[in-house]
Amino acid sequence: MEKRVAVVGGDGIGPEVIREAVGVAEAAIRRHGIQLSLETWDLGAERYLREGVTITEDEKARLIGEYDGMLLGALGDVRVPDQIHAREILLALRFEADLYINFRPCTLYLPHLSPLKNPAADIDITVFRENTEGLYTNLGGRFKAGTPDEIAIQESVNTYKGVERIIRAAFEYAVAQGRERVTLVDKANALPHAGALWRRVFRDVGAGFPDQRKDAMYVDAMAMDLVRRPEEYDVLVTSNLFGDILSDLGAQVTGGLGLAPSANLHPGRWALFEPVHGSAPDIAGTGAANPLAAIRCVSLLFETLGEAEAARTVEGALGDALASGVLTPDLGGSHSTEEVGGWIAQRVGEGGQGA
Ligand code: NAD
Ligand code: IPM
Ligand code: MN
Repeated sequence: MEKRVAVVGGDGIGPEVIREAVGVAEAAIRRHGIQLSLETWDLGAERYLREGVTITEDEKARLIGEYDGMLLGALGDVRVPDQIHAREILLALRFEADLYINFRPCTLYLPHLSPLKNPAADIDITVFRENTEGLYTNLGGRFKAGTPDEIAIQESVNTYKGVERIIRAAFEYAVAQGRERVTLVDKANALPHAGALWRRVFRDVGAGFPDQRKDAMYVDAMAMDLVRRPEEYDVLVTSNLFGDILSDLGAQVTGGLGLAPSANLHPGRWALFEPVHGSAPDIAGTGAANPLAAIRCVSLLFETLGEAEAARTVEGALGDALASGVLTPDLGGSHSTEEVGGWIAQRVGEGGQGA
């Protein structure tokens, strides 16, 4: 049966990088004879500003119920007060589809792509970011808003179920990928309630994975060590906000946001793929956006949909682009978004169907 993927460019550089990702995906679909349709949806700041609607309940139900997955560029536009559309579209889809894993690999393809002085060649960190609770539930509120006595409360929610399933996912991934070390990142010294739960569950779940090395680090020290010796780490598992922050840091150490993909997953269910980066208003419309993060999302999408061969084709072509210096300015190149995307799509298409 034909699979269906919804495609949303979104805001800023989102549509620019997604256009290239779609070109690459279509080339891989043709080459490997995959039954998959990519269907464009109009969601983002423009639609909100035009219609006053971010996304309807019916649209969310259709996206989650009728599609196998979604590819999203980025949501973020200063014209939208308080970025409500990002929360009502992106965060709502994560929550409502219960996509509890935010899988964010940070892989150094070539040493010179790292801004570090003498980077180890083998930096390869995978962040397992909890994606349905923590500081992101929006529980809390404002009291006496707009007055000098204003109080703002933003609760951090940590449930046994939520903590257990993300930690288990991190360990299962480590086993499947032959990754030796799983590191819990928290702030148990200052936030002991959440810390105690995460550490207890990490210990209990970890006991079932005797071959993995286990340790816990405070998030501040981890931020430091991701710059000092990132090659020491394999799999990091952490709460929603810490994972958000550390995945930008891990991305930069391994070549920047232009290269970093993410998959929002609940195994066996509808999944959402998006670059780690945002709408990058500072470079939108200049042709300088790096499409590689979005293209790596296509590879993750194929992998998740059971099209491992297509995923490998995309990864291979992307590796060739990096090795051949077909790069956008953020990676020191002089190629445009379109040139990089077109080069990879052509590479993917070479050899014809079934080659
Ligand atoms: P950003 O990720 O958009 O940009 C940070 C810096 O990285 C900028 O200098 C930008 O030019 C650069 N950069 C990002 N992606 C790049 C790419 N593909 N190629 C080359 N350079 C790239 O972060 P920001 O500026 O904090 O956020 C801008 C908007 O995007 C905000 O509204 C934010 O809320 C939103 N945002 C959305 C998502 C998402 O939808 N998944 C993620 C992060 C931020
Ligand atoms: C990300 C983004 C989002 C997040 C924003 C846009 C709400 O930064 O996907 O990393 O914080 O999760
Ligand atoms: Mn982020």
